[in-house]
Amino acid sequence: MSTTPNARGTQSDDPDAAPWWRRAVVYQVYLRSFADANGDGTGDIAGLRSRLPYLADLGVDAIWLNPWYASPLRDGGYDVADFREIDPRFGSTAEAVELIAECHDHGIRVIVDIVPNHTSSEHEWFHAAVIAGPGSAERSRYHFLPGRGPGGSEPPTDWPSVFGGPAWTRLNDHPDDGEWYLHLFDPSQPDLNWDHPGVHAEFHDILRFWLDRGVDGFRVDVAHGLVKHPTYADLDDRPPHVQAATVHDHPFWDRDGLHDIYRSWRSVLDEYDDRMMVAEATIHASRYPLYLRPDEFHQAFDFDLLRAEWSAKDVGEIVHRAVATAASVGSNPTWVLSNHDVMRHATRFGLPHGVDLATWSVTGPHDLLDAGLGRRRARAAALVALALPGSTYLYQGDELALPEVWDLPPEVLDDPVWTRSGHTEKGRDGCRVPMPWSADGPSLGFGDGPPWLPQPASFAELSVESQTADPDSTLELYRRAIALRRELLVDDEQVAELDLGADVLAFERGAGLRSVTNMGASPIAMPTGELLLSSDPALAATAVELPPDVTVWVR
Ligand code: BGC
Repeated sequence: MSTTPNARGTQSDDPDAAPWWRRAVVYQVYLRSFADANGDGTGDIAGLRSRLPYLADLGVDAIWLNPWYASPLRDGGYDVADFREIDPRFGSTAEAVELIAECHDHGIRVIVDIVPNHTSSEHEWFHAAVIAGPGSAERSRYHFLPGRGPGGSEPPTDWPSVFGGPAWTRLNDHPDDGEWYLHLFDPSQPDLNWDHPGVHAEFHDILRFWLDRGVDGFRVDVAHGLVKHPTYADLDDRPPHVQAATVHDHPFWDRDGLHDIYRSWRSVLDEYDDRMMVAEATIHASRYPLYLRPDEFHQAFDFDLLRAEWSAKDVGEIVHRAVATAASVGSNPTWVLSNHDVMRHATRFGLPHGVDLATWSVTGPHDLLDAGLGRRRARAAALVALALPGSTYLYQGDELALPEVWDLPPEVLDDPVWTRSGHTEKGRDGCRVPMPWSADGPSLGFGDGPPWLPQPASFAELSVESQTADPDSTLELYRRAIALRRELLVDDEQVAELDLGADVLAFERGAGLRSVTNMGASPIAMPTGELLLSSDPALAATAVELPPDVTVWVR
């Protein structure tokens, strides 16, 4: 396969080569917390540009950027006020275009986030809708309804917000009007009405705007939520979330009408070379094939691994199912261990089975956490995710084994989940703490001033500077694993499961590479063959046993 870079980066000139996204290592950049060039405490495009050599050296094929658009940042930028402008705290649209070109020069593709389910309440459409009043054309772009009960004082339906509380807010500032608007997330994120042709046209135009500026793909936020029940049926006894079960005719998730939207988006992408879109759809795994049909998404995040317990049986079943699901529609599996919405896996894997991860940081008991175990398992899990066929999404800081900062003081919390849950859940700030680049400095090399969320002292020894060139560090483990994957695995999508015992996750890839993880409590026999890589730096090449919580790659 030719790997000659062309004008758009690492694209192969070989017409038979698989498209880049099928085997990519994609690095998620949470821009606000990645690198701060101007010292205001918030990461920015200039900071990211200064760190592109680091990402190129790590060996990633692409970056995915969380929303960088103009936004009040009530939900970390998922509340977009203008989809064609970069928020001034992050930089400018001109800098975004320069960044995209520079990424391509480094052989790195760029996936941007697109947020079609809602806008910010500061978007000009929502301002116009509030002013124009009930029954207006402006309101028809959103979901405005009169309330129920005496004086319309109760929400129009029983739908809950994902962040807690009802999914409807009344326009209290306009007492003569009294309508309620829908927000499946925060009240600052009114849901768009996808029955409105103008909404469709606007998003086609936004896609083209960024495609014309060189982006290689889109991560589609809440892809399972855009279409709502035509007459706003109550939820009644149906579950508020649909990932655990398939639910017929759910009033706001995973509705059949979504697929026409994505077909039309796909035809826009197909006007361009080599572009992709990946669905963030929190649905039951059996529904993925619908989104992955050849004229819809190229791939979808598979979140089962991110929710899995440390169990060879559970992870093995997920791997089996994910590979089969993707193959059934000609797509590729995706592997995600962490992202900006969940507890970092270096902490998750250090907690016993059955702990409620959403509330644990508030309720404890905090001495349940075994941080060393979590880190050991995180390293082992990384080798699994990087050995599997398909694309692997890394979240910034995974490569440093950053832990969740679960003990952030309440006064610094920024995630709306903290207040909307009535302070029962701290929310997602603990996985969004700025990256430590060096072992000292006001924000450990993140910027010249204090960061927007405080970093714990333990981040110093986990910094990029501290880990670079230390052969035992997690960072060097990732570098070697990504390089070996590129050398040995990337041209091949085959995977064969191996049965080495109930507590062992084992599979064979092309080039005879076997990945073996001991997920049980006792040592097992060391797999035979040449030891290429071990998640345990203390494991000797001559070892006869594979200890618990370790992955090896052997050939
Ligand atoms: C994003 C979240 C965001 C939500 C609402 C999600 O799925 O990943 O960070 O809060 O969509 O846009």
